[in-house]
Amino acid sequence: METKILPVKQGSKVLYDIVISDGMNEIHSRLEELGSKERTVVIITDSNVDPLYGDQMMKALKKDCKELLKFVIPAGEDHKNLATVETVYEFLIQNHVTRTGMLIALGGGVVGDMTGFVAATYLRGIDFIQVPTTLLAQVDSSVGGKTGVDFQQYKNMVGAFYMPRLVYMDLSLLKSLDDRQFASGFAETMKYGLIKDAKFYSWLIENSYEIEDRDMEVLAQMIYTSCDWKRKVVEKDPTEKGDRALLNYGHTIGHAIEKAMNFQLLHGECVALGSVCAAYISYKHDLMDKDEYLEVRDMFVPFHLPISITDLDEQEVLKNTYSDKKVSDKARKFILLKHIGRGIIDTTVTDEEILESLREIIYKPGED
Ligand code: GLY
Repeated sequence: METKILPVKQGSKVLYDIVISDGMNEIHSRLEELGSKERTVVIITDSNVDPLYGDQMMKALKKDCKELLKFVIPAGEDHKNLATVETVYEFLIQNHVTRTGMLIALGGGVVGDMTGFVAATYLRGIDFIQVPTTLLAQVDSSVGGKTGVDFQQYKNMVGAFYMPRLVYMDLSLLKSLDDRQFASGFAETMKYGLIKDAKFYSWLIENSYEIEDRDMEVLAQMIYTSCDWKRKVVEKDPTEKGDRALLNYGHTIGHAIEKAMNFQLLHGECVALGSVCAAYISYKHDLMDKDEYLEVRDMFVPFHLPISITDLDEQEVLKNTYSDKKVSDKARKFILLKHIGRGIIDTTVTDEEILESLREIIYKPGED
């Protein structure tokens, strides 16, 4: 595949490029452009990704940097907190990393968000690069500068908007990505079709076999279109004062389920469930008819995402929707669909509607 480049701008100024490539070849010149030969560069990765790509990256990038170090954090959402951030600060201090230092986030969403937060705060801000290794991080979390950690029971409660200097995606990494992780990332891809682009939604469905087979040309097109939507949304509203909230489609209930299930389900799996609920509420608000709701619901199935769940405490999920940080002045900001392809922000969704939507997805064994 041909390398694709998407510049993310603020006004006419390019903030950073998203490079979509089949391999790591082009990262060297990109690092050099950022002056890596004169800088200490630190790869931050996690205990899942390190055994797969940690040493390979160290070897590949050594000659590009004045000094190259690596720090491995424990994998998983459980460790996305200030205690882990402190361990990274300690490592940077012990290794005398100064303001000219640069971090590389090598991993999925948790590594990217947390490394970005360290970069935003260490010495009041140092450069960082995103090298997302999962589909979810490639199509969503690595782009747009949302960084941060969870705090107590609140997801992503502490953080900063802080832009990377480069987002470099090596799509060949997706060939070996675990099937569940791949499906989880796909939920965020589907989101762009649902909230912004009905043609892309249909294209995804037409190409479902190629996507499942991980056909590189199709994945490249899919990731390019997803990142292009993300780019357009974050350029217009970088700090989520308005339309960026549309990217939270499926997330209010999705996050609440994720927490109620103690993070036993993957983020994208919960987003798929939350998306079904949000489509159901859209139908109840007369924004789409029942057939369209059923289509949205059923289209997650060929992509191996759940549309029902057992053992979910609906009251717990409802309570969790209030601890989401998107709740402003007690009004839940909810994203609904005015037909496939157009997301809208709504603050009128009631508790009863949420409970009713949850009953649509909660499967009780023995019932049809
Ligand atoms: N993942 C949603 C956003 O970046 O706004």
